[in-house]
Amino acid sequence: MTIDSTIYLGRARNGDAMSGDERSALIIGPSRSGKTSSIIIPNLLLSTRSVVVTSTKPDVVTAMAGRRIDGATLLFDPSGTIAAPRGVTRIGYSPVSQSLEWDGAVLATRSLVDVARRSRLEHGDDHWTERASALVAPLIHATALRGESLGQLATVIDQRHGGDALTTLRERYGEQHPSVALLQGILETDERERSGIWSTASGLFAGLRTDAARTASRGAPLNVDEFLRGPHQLHIVAPSRYQAVSTPLIVGLIEQIVHATYDRHAKGARLLLALDELANVAPLPRLPSIVSEGGGQGVLTLACVQDLSQARARWGPIADGFLSLFPTTVVLPGVADRSTLELLQRIAGRTLVPTTSIQRGRGRTATYATSWVERDRATVGDLATGRPGWALGIDSQNAMRWIALTPAHRSPRFRDYRIRDGLDRSRP
Ligand SMILES: Nc1ncnc2c1ncn2[C@@H]1O[C@H](COP(=O)(O)OP(=O)(O)OP(=O)(O)O)[C@@H](O)[C@H]1O
Ligand SMILES: [Mg+2]
Repeated sequence: MTIDSTIYLGRARNGDAMSGDERSALIIGPSRSGKTSSIIIPNLLLSTRSVVVTSTKPDVVTAMAGRRIDGATLLFDPSGTIAAPRGVTRIGYSPVSQSLEWDGAVLATRSLVDVARRSRLEHGDDHWTERASALVAPLIHATALRGESLGQLATVIDQRHGGDALTTLRERYGEQHPSVALLQGILETDERERSGIWSTASGLFAGLRTDAARTASRGAPLNVDEFLRGPHQLHIVAPSRYQAVSTPLIVGLIEQIVHATYDRHAKGARLLLALDELANVAPLPRLPSIVSEGGGQGVLTLACVQDLSQARARWGPIADGFLSLFPTTVVLPGVADRSTLELLQRIAGRTLVPTTSIQRGRGRTATYATSWVERDRATVGDLATGRPGWALGIDSQNAMRWIALTPAHRSPRFRDYRIRDGLDRSRP
């Protein structure tokens, strides 16, 4: 096993503690428990893959900018508020920039729809969003073919004018293309239905009507092929207060890179998604399928949350399944959320422990009797307190082990780290 195919967690008794071959990991820890310094940064230093890393603060990109000796350090800043450190290259993203191909337009539209529906915690298919996607995908594709911008697309949608786009698509494809059939179908539906479709489409662009989103969309787009040839790092930095604006762009960009990795996996493309502040920066509606299907297709996910209630606010009841979705869970000290602790306690399970009792016989004789008593392997109290400097790892068989955390700013292994040195198998 190499660090290329696994996630580094810290130090165990017999060397490095890893998540396991192609196994994604969920890190649960409150603020200042070490998610960024003990898990995210060490993985950025060790990984030989290209990495997409999310953050609410520029501290990680700043730390990496000074340390990297191979590969590019890129920054996507959808809020337009982050200063790029020296040596870091900014990239832009807009749903239009990935839509020159029809498949890219379909994917970009799906991301927009997913984000809009997930922000209302809707599940299942909904008539209006399904119809709005049939309108938006051809419009985004036509916008890209015409070399126009996200702002121009928003104007087309606000003015409810699809005629020019239809002409562009017909000129390109004739009549026999799904984009032409879909757009024509929508433009020919009856007035009342059509009006509902346009207004739903308009809602999908709600977060993208800001100056920041338009600026972010104008930057040079990521060359995904080149990025996946890596190892490169793309830092997505978005303060929480800009979430409404940032989320559609971030989700679109990450899903574009994830799908490109799937497509190029057979040719060796590999990606690490290091999703720090997952719930605040990158509430990917399709996270469960990325985690469950990604491992076999070159995408490894390292996701950090403060507790499961934070995840529940984004993914709804699906979040309760995160502990079984991720093959590896790591709990840092200090989790306070009661329902998270109770779920972890249940997952950790019960075990039989021997207890010895002394029975006094007649006279001075004593007999020792051993009986087995069933106990929780970790109580809510144990899980909440943890051990300072240690994390509790729970693997897919629900086996538990203590892992010594190795903060990048303190551990000699990472403090002066400039080159990837592979694994250290000596004892901690
Ligand atoms: N470069 C550094 N130098 C010194 N101390 C640091 C450094 N980076 C982090 N720390 C300390 O390490 C501890 C863990 O911080 P870290 O940022 O890793 O936590 P976190 O779980 O990511 O928190 P948050 O949820 O607030 O981002 C904190 O006490 C912090 O002050
Ligand atoms: Mg952090």
